[in-house]
Amino acid sequence: MQNNINDVGKTPSESAVHLAQLMLPEHANPLGNVHGGVIMKLADEAGSLAAMRHAGMHAVTVFVESMTFNEPVEVGALLHLNAQLSWVGRSSIEVLVRVDAENPLTADVVATNSAFIVYVALDKQGKPTLVPRLVCENERQKELMADGEKRKSVRLSIRSQNNSD
Ligand SMILES: CC(C)(COP(=O)(O)OP(=O)(O)OC[C@H]1O[C@@H](n2cnc3c(N)ncnc32)[C@H](O)[C@@H]1OP(=O)(O)O)[C@@H](O)C(=O)NCCC(=O)NCCS
Repeated sequence: MQNNINDVGKTPSESAVHLAQLMLPEHANPLGNVHGGVIMKLADEAGSLAAMRHAGMHAVTVFVESMTFNEPVEVGALLHLNAQLSWVGRSSIEVLVRVDAENPLTADVVATNSAFIVYVALDKQGKPTLVPRLVCENERQKELMADGEKRKSVRLSIRSQNNSD
């Protein structure tokens, strides 16, 4: 990988992704609510699409950070997954995915999950490659980007601990 930071910049809005999926009985766990793994898979799909839109190339998942499950999701809910870039390194891309469950009968919406998911952009040889820098559009995005450096340090320390065992 080259050492220079890519001069091209893109805003989080340019790559933001919204997916919506109706939760059906086939998505349920034995308790009758939606299985957590189904939500994690959809969150990863939304995040990877945002990462690929930003990079303009394939991106693979390398870290799923702090996935929260705040409320159960009921079968029959319309799940909304909103993915937006929060931090970018050289080849790595962090995406904040927020999940809401809508009751389509009442239009009530509950925030059910969120996660930071990290992807790495790969070139045609499957090697990590530089991605466009992130151009923040507002104060919230600037805060997320600044805090992303701290989250990266924690992630790399976890990677090194896991690899040393
Ligand atoms: C992605 C992959 C090619 C990176 O290989 P690698 O040898 O770790 O590459 P590097 O050490 O050069 O790291 C490349 C970037 O990934 C980041 N990274 C690698 N592992 C990471 C981890 N566990 N957590 C967070 N970031 C990580 C590095 O910080 C670096 O970021 P930067 O370029 O922005 O500075 C390799 O880890 C891989 O193939 N993983 C499997 C991916 C996969 O199969 N995912 C599931 C299917 S999508």
